[in-house]
Amino acid sequence: MLHLARVFYQPTEYESEPPAYWKGKTVVVIDVLRATSTLVTALGSGYAEARCFREVAAARSYAADHPGAVLAGEREGLPPEGFEKGNSPGEFVQAPVAGTALALTTTNGTRALESVRGAERILVGSFLNLHVVADFLQKAGAVFEVVCSGTGDAFALEDALVAGALAELLHLEHAVAALYRSCAGSLGEAFRASRNGRRLKALGLDGDLDWCLQRDRFPVLPMLGRDGVIRPTKPS
Ligand code: MLT
Repeated sequence: MLHLARVFYQPTEYESEPPAYWKGKTVVVIDVLRATSTLVTALGSGYAEARCFREVAAARSYAADHPGAVLAGEREGLPPEGFEKGNSPGEFVQAPVAGTALALTTTNGTRALESVRGAERILVGSFLNLHVVADFLQKAGAVFEVVCSGTGDAFALEDALVAGALAELLHLEHAVAALYRSCAGSLGEAFRASRNGRRLKALGLDGDLDWCLQRDRFPVLPMLGRDGVIRPTKPS
């Protein structure tokens, strides 16, 4: 029966679980500013697949071995040297050549996705595809957990707000749903006041906040498979 079993709020929580913890679980990973919003935008715009790398060097080496793959990501918010793209979701909306793969490395989002690799089903969530994620969980009658990627080693308010919006959509009572309700009328302000929001503004990237706040723009359900590839599953 549909149930939100647990919310992880920050890396110190989800990284302290042993790999065996995730076995058999359904997990929604959220890094709304900006990694999961970028993945949803890219896979909803025609990228065939995405691979996430924790280290810049590993992403570089994958892209070098796979001509045609788009090398993207950020460190301290900006693209590492030699990268084709950063981590602004709007950069990925132009439909690429059919079959294009994305190689992405970010500070927290790819870290969270890697941490839960042993799970049965790993869904990539954001405001941009919230309904699709909710529909999938509802139809599956899933007992699920939400991993909020956080920022650095700490809690990120904006990820918890997306978790709350998901719980609210599913009519599930949880502290994050109450948090979401308390901010639902002023999500833009909450995003701008968050640590990540202020950091992006300081980098001149505040347009990314508006992008990431859009609801249900991409009806795509990216799922991370056992082979480490995120594919744009279409909702049934
Ligand atoms: C992350 O993965 O930590 C974020 O996406 C950071 C960012 O976009 O700047």
